[in-house]
Amino acid sequence: MSSRADQEIAEALAVAPGTEGSIAAAGVGHSYPGRKERVQALGPLDLEVAPGEFLVLVGASGCGKSTLLRLIAGFERPTDGTLTVSGREPEPGKGAGVVFQQPRLFPWRSVGGNVDLALKYAGVEKADRAVAREGLLERVGLGGTADRKIWEISGGQQQRVAIARALAARTPLLLLDEPFAALDALTRERLQEDVRTVSHETGRTSVFVTHSADEAVFLGSRIVVLTARPGRIALDLPVGLPRTGVDPDELRGSPEYAELRAQVGHAVKESAAIRA
Ligand SMILES: Nc1ncnc2c1ncn2[C@@H]1O[C@H](COP(=O)(O)OP(=O)(O)OP(=O)(O)O)[C@@H](O)[C@H]1O
Ligand SMILES: [Mg+2]
Repeated sequence: MSSRADQEIAEALAVAPGTEGSIAAAGVGHSYPGRKERVQALGPLDLEVAPGEFLVLVGASGCGKSTLLRLIAGFERPTDGTLTVSGREPEPGKGAGVVFQQPRLFPWRSVGGNVDLALKYAGVEKADRAVAREGLLERVGLGGTADRKIWEISGGQQQRVAIARALAARTPLLLLDEPFAALDALTRERLQEDVRTVSHETGRTSVFVTHSADEAVFLGSRIVVLTARPGRIALDLPVGLPRTGVDPDELRGSPEYAELRAQVGHAVKESAAIRA
C-alpha cells in the first residue's frame, strides 16, 4: 500500500483535530419520573476520565450503567450535578461514537453506505470518503465488503460495521454499551481483541459497559464497579496489563489476569448487595 493511502487511512481513523476525550462528572446523579415519585437511577458520583483511558463499567442489572453512558453521550442531561466531555456540556452525536448491544444499522444501506453516512456527518468530503471508508472497514476486519448488504452479513460482522461507524464519527470518545453480549464466545473474543487494539492505536477514550468480569479485565485500563441502584462507585481499579505487543491468549492465560478477574468478579457480587 502506498504511503499516501496509509496516511489517508490514518487520518480517517484519527479523531478530529483540536478535540480531546476527557470526561468530568461532579456530583452526577440521575432520576427518572416514576408512578408516584421519581426513581433515583444513578449516583450521585464523581468521576474523572483522562484522554486515552479505556474505562470499563460493571455492576448489577439496573444500577444505572446505560444511564451514565447516555448522559456522557448527551442523549440526556443529568438531573443532579455537572457533567462535561472535553470541558463542554455533551451534545448528542457530537462528542461520542456510540455502539449498542444491537448494531442498529440502516438495513437499506450497504455496509459501505452505513460507514459513509457517518463520515459525511463528520464532515469528510465526498472525494475522500471512499478511501476513509475502506480504511475503516479494513481496520475492523471487513476489508472488501463495502458493497455487501446488511442482511447478507453475520451478527458479528454487523457489530464490526457499527464499530467502524462509531470510529468514522471521528469523535475522541467511544461509548460501548454491552456491544458483544449477543455474540458467540469466539466472535466475542475476536471483537474484544480488535476493540482493545483499535481504541489504543487511534487514541480514543473509551467507556465500555459489560456484565463480564473477564471482558472487563481484558479490555479495561481501568475498571469501575458500581453499587446496586442508584449506582455509585464501589471500586475504582487501575489495570496495569500491557496494551501493545502482547499475544491476547497469553494475556488471558497470565496469573495477573486471573487475579484481576477474581478481584473484579468478587467486587461485582459484593457491590450488587450494597445499596448506597
Ligand atoms: N427511561 C426511563 N424511564 C424510567 N426509568 C428508567 C428509564 N431508563 C432506565 N430506568 C431505570 O433506571 C435504572 C437504571 O437503568 P439502566 O438502564 O441505566 O441500568 P443498567 O445498569 O444499564 O442495567 P442493565 O445491566 O440491565 O442494562 C433502572 O431501575 C431502570 O428501570
Ligand atoms: Mg444497560
